[in-house]
Amino acid sequence: MFKKLTRKFSKGLGIDLGSTKTMIYQQDRGIVVNESSIVAVNNRTDQILAVGDEARRMMGKTPPHIIATAPLYHGIISDFEITEKMLKYLMDKVRAGKFAFSAKPRVVVGVPLDLTEVEKKAVEDVVMSAGSSQVNLVENIMAAAVGARIPIQDPSGNMIVNLGGGLTEIAVISLDGIVNWKVTRTAGLSLDKDIIKFARDEFNLVLGEMVAEDIKRKIGSALELEEPIEMQMRGRDVMSGLPKEFDINDMQIRDAMHKSIQHILDTIKATLETTPPELVADIYQKGIILTGGVAMLKNIDKFIAQGIEIPVHVADDPQTCTVRGMGVIIEDEVLLQDILVPSSQ
Ligand SMILES: Nc1ncnc2c1ncn2[C@@H]1O[C@H](COP(=O)(O)OP(=O)(O)OP(=O)(O)O)[C@@H](O)[C@H]1O
Ligand SMILES: [Mg+2]
Repeated sequence: MFKKLTRKFSKGLGIDLGSTKTMIYQQDRGIVVNESSIVAVNNRTDQILAVGDEARRMMGKTPPHIIATAPLYHGIISDFEITEKMLKYLMDKVRAGKFAFSAKPRVVVGVPLDLTEVEKKAVEDVVMSAGSSQVNLVENIMAAAVGARIPIQDPSGNMIVNLGGGLTEIAVISLDGIVNWKVTRTAGLSLDKDIIKFARDEFNLVLGEMVAEDIKRKIGSALELEEPIEMQMRGRDVMSGLPKEFDINDMQIRDAMHKSIQHILDTIKATLETTPPELVADIYQKGIILTGGVAMLKNIDKFIAQGIEIPVHVADDPQTCTVRGMGVIIEDEVLLQDILVPSSQ
């Protein structure tokens, strides 16, 4: 009875706790939080100074007593306390809006495919203690598939590749279940690291993480572009310690990221190789769907399609697929019961 009342008066939340982005979907409202998964803490007072994009802008610029950190590492909570503080801050912000006096919300939160029971429990605990009345876990990749409007209920093979910041997850889904999957930690952040290494090796230049990411978004690509693009890369000279600039082009960045992107392709191939042939036949026919932020990397779809000789489609607004899928799941109790990950308790 009490649970029913709570449900009536509190809006359910769907949380995508990503390695680089935390997004929250509120029932009846849509996406209400889309922030970097970064927290800036004052070590002297233990107080939170900033959360999200604001904290990210502080990275690399803080005095010693202020630390801006990412509390998730490759999709796994590495700092429980900071993750809890980050979520509490973001959830309170959502509740402080229209529904200031609402009860604690019930939450659907996503988890990676290869999580251990202990890690699952950590996610449940962190979301509960951040201020929710009930927590249900779903696999991020399932939510992404729902968000990309893949017909996961059909008795037919659907392949989805979520190209995230800390993880690349690949799954074959049929009849609301995951039939085969693989995960690699080679993902968006690896590409940033490749660019940082390239700048150091080729130009003796130290690049900031945000600069590297900016280069990846602006001129990064997986296959040759129709029109070459150039930009300036600014960093600090290793020898002199002074700022320095160089002109770079898409080909150099493509080469720098090639090994990582090839590894992602090889993992997709390996998943196909271990998928039952009936399902592979379906996948050949329908093609595979890309979601996640790195699905926006130029020509990544063409590169993968060439490598596996199967059509590849990028989902609409690929980076928000997971959280939008959670929005669908919190509204649909039957679907939730079908796909939820059993609680660790
Ligand atoms: N236009 C773009 N081109 C290339 N990469 C991009 C682009 N836009 C975003 N990205 C990258 O996408 C990644 C973030 O994607 P996403 O938000 O799906 O990851 P996440 O959910 O935070 O991480 P994960 O799911 O791995 O835990 C970042 O590495 C970001 O640099
Ligand atoms: Mg993600």
